[in-house]
Amino acid sequence: MSAGEAPGAQIVSLLGEGDERTLAADVREGFSKPLKEIPPKHFYDTAGAELFDRICDLPEYYPTRAERAILEGQSDELAAATGLGELVELGSGTAEKTMVLLRAASQAGTLRRFVPVDVTEQMVRGCAARCAAELPELEVIGVVGDFGRHLDAIPPAQEGLPRAVALLGGTIGNFTPGERRELLSQMASLLRPETDFLLLGTDLVKDRDRLIAAYDDSQGATAEFNRNVLRVINRELGADFEPQAFEHVALWNEDEEWIEMRLRATRPMTVRIESLDMDVDFAEGEEIRTEISAKFTEERLEDDLGAAGLEATRVFHDPDRLFALSLARLAS
Ligand code: AVJ
Repeated sequence: MSAGEAPGAQIVSLLGEGDERTLAADVREGFSKPLKEIPPKHFYDTAGAELFDRICDLPEYYPTRAERAILEGQSDELAAATGLGELVELGSGTAEKTMVLLRAASQAGTLRRFVPVDVTEQMVRGCAARCAAELPELEVIGVVGDFGRHLDAIPPAQEGLPRAVALLGGTIGNFTPGERRELLSQMASLLRPETDFLLLGTDLVKDRDRLIAAYDDSQGATAEFNRNVLRVINRELGADFEPQAFEHVALWNEDEEWIEMRLRATRPMTVRIESLDMDVDFAEGEEIRTEISAKFTEERLEDDLGAAGLEATRVFHDPDRLFALSLARLAS
């Protein structure tokens, strides 16, 4: 049985034609900036998604474990507080942690529907099949799409079924402050007043060394994940990057309170990007910014939610207070 054929699981693909063009456009635009830049969503082809799973098991990478601790300790409360009938999860990946919440809501007898949304088709299929197999009474609609562009195509909420729209793992931190507010506003537009919630996972500002270690692990898994974006560009756009000629850099931007990952050219070189008919020069030591991962304070969280017309009703923490899971609703 292929993943998509699991009983109870339905797969909707919103990716099409224009989607290779987003990488092309992002590369063309990003490489024309004074500090070259590629948005982090392009890390996640199948290999990249696997590398990210490896990162989640690293001793230094605490966010996944911290968020799982919150869900394991407080899912019953979360399920009760929301009366969860439908969960829409953006960037669902394997949805391994999410299963903890789904089980709790299923036990509570309220859960009817799960809508995992991810760009990686294999991820969506695998996740939808596993959920449908474990929770047979659940309607699972897997959506293959880019949540930055396709939120208007999410299946509509059902009358009388309380919905939560979730963005977990600290993924919101990958966006600049302006993009964050835009995305949160779009998520808010999927919510109805009274019944629906936004569930947002955010990593918190903490000791610099601990933050940097999480993005520069001793096994070099994060470095490989970082270089993977060059392999994606090679494959999708016919480029000839030599990934090993770039060094992994993780730095803490004190002013912005975000981690940056960069790739630093170890020697001068010219890279050919065939599909764009583009030659890109790198000086020795020149960097490409591949990711920002913003860390949050309570004030920043409140401000971002507020700017999107939302207000937090509860904030859950892990015992070490490394990570926060916020439950928010439309501000009255
Ligand atoms: C999946 C975006 C939450 O920013 O911590 C992990 C991705 N990058 N290690 C993060 C990531 C480097 C991760 N998010």
